[in-house]
Amino acid sequence: MSDRWYQQAVVYCLDIDTFADSNGDGCGDLPGLIGRLDYLARLGVTCLWLNPIHPSPGRDDGYDVADFYNVDPRFGTLGDFAELLHQAGNRGIKVIIDLVVNHTSDQHPWFRSARSSPDSPYRDWYVWSETAPADRHQGMVFPGEQAETWSYDRTAKLWYYHRFYEFQPDLNIRNPEVRAEIKKICAFWTQLGVAGFRVDAVPFIIEETDPGNPDPPKNFDFLTELRQHLQWRKSDAVLLAEANVEPARLAGYFGDGGGSGNRIHMLFDFMLNAKLVLALAREDPEPIIDGLRDTPELPPGGQWATFLRNHDEIDLSRLTAEQRADVFARFGPEPEMQLYDRGIRRRLAPMLGNDRRLLELAYALQFSLRGTPVLRYGEEIGMGDDLALKGRDSIRTPMQWSALPNAGFSTADPELLIRPVVESGDFGYEQVNVTLQRQDPSSLLSWFERMIRTLREAPEIGTGACTHVDLPVPRGLLVHRADNGTGSMLFLHNLGPDAVTADLSGIGDEAELPNDVLADSEYPDPGELADLPVSGHGYRWIRLRRRP
Ligand code: GLC
Repeated sequence: MSDRWYQQAVVYCLDIDTFADSNGDGCGDLPGLIGRLDYLARLGVTCLWLNPIHPSPGRDDGYDVADFYNVDPRFGTLGDFAELLHQAGNRGIKVIIDLVVNHTSDQHPWFRSARSSPDSPYRDWYVWSETAPADRHQGMVFPGEQAETWSYDRTAKLWYYHRFYEFQPDLNIRNPEVRAEIKKICAFWTQLGVAGFRVDAVPFIIEETDPGNPDPPKNFDFLTELRQHLQWRKSDAVLLAEANVEPARLAGYFGDGGGSGNRIHMLFDFMLNAKLVLALAREDPEPIIDGLRDTPELPPGGQWATFLRNHDEIDLSRLTAEQRADVFARFGPEPEMQLYDRGIRRRLAPMLGNDRRLLELAYALQFSLRGTPVLRYGEEIGMGDDLALKGRDSIRTPMQWSALPNAGFSTADPELLIRPVVESGDFGYEQVNVTLQRQDPSSLLSWFERMIRTLREAPEIGTGACTHVDLPVPRGLLVHRADNGTGSMLFLHNLGPDAVTADLSGIGDEAELPNDVLADSEYPDPGELADLPVSGHGYRWIRLRRRP
């Protein structure tokens, strides 16, 4: 068994403001989340990733932080946060929080001071230019919503750099005080008891921006420093990073190349995310096989985090134009479903036409691939989206707890809700909610509980080698396996609509009493693996052997 908790974790990602509102003001809060911990424990998640919890003007859903040492008063107090950590811990659930230190809000006291005077102690905490940088219309992360990466500040009479929106000025990583402050922020929250951080926008944090240079150097050493500092303060704390870069550049985020994983422990696998979606769109496992083959080898302790949906758009920018067109055609054909010319702003259930078989297939596949699975709130009940909301808000609607008004999320007047609940259609809260699914053994929620329990009995999946089984099999079928000292698991996922039968007798002699531990329906005993039927869009998780 692995002694690294994150390798066998099931991570559940949520936004406090849309999860559960305890005081009826229309905004979710920490006591509301505490009240739902039993639900999360039953689901089987072992780690919560909380989207930003800090005070914020809220112009980028909290990713514009105005105070790193507090919680947003709408969510409660630091006392409530400490209580959350305690109550979650009682249930064996760890909590990691978003660390958003590439930039601050323009309302952060540091930036207000920095812009107010050249003598401000914070002036050099941000990135300035005296003249309009030639590359100021390049490198925007949010095309269509963001016109430039350098904006003129009338107070400072200087241009300031912002990789994201203009209200998110970038911190200057070259400044040792900034680096020290970031470490202090990590130390503060680990001292309170968080288990680690989801580090936002890492490639941009370490960028040593120069006006006019679109590809500035990156300070990877800072990641080493940050890791050392964190591990000294809390030995099992983890860094889970967002670094959506080309595969060839990923290795440097895990370690310095000297063989040890001395930087980030876990990276989201954005490439695999796009390939998974492409494979589902084409009903063809080839992209996943490529994805498994093309990812760099990880240093010891390095780990991938897999996901199908997160709080952002599905980013298809690393696919070829042809691949992207296929995904758009299948899952996001209307312009209103697309975002930033590269992504899809829908939840998975609507993308898959609310087809239960496809939903199980997709999530069984994600959870069986190598790495730590991350699940976005509401996906476990098959929530839908609201394309009438702007940008990424479409997938950030309140959690649907029951058929009570406001989906049981809040008792506030609907006008006061942080965002409207999904009310009508197939995904309206009267159709899709936790209460309806909780006691129904055939619901998607019950399936997720079973699937996660099965996963947790199969430590090979998170910690072992995950390989494509390269034997001749029918079109549409993906066969992969996970092996480590605890045993071996075999997975068959049929991405195609037609039933197939696979002959895997080539590995039959490795099996000791193989049996299905999770499947879309009852199948005959796997026997010698010579004759393995799988229904259209079906899947089978077969335990090959188990070591004591
Ligand atoms: C990350 C977050 C995204 C946010 C951005 C700016 O990409 O995932 O939601 O808008 O950083 O902080």
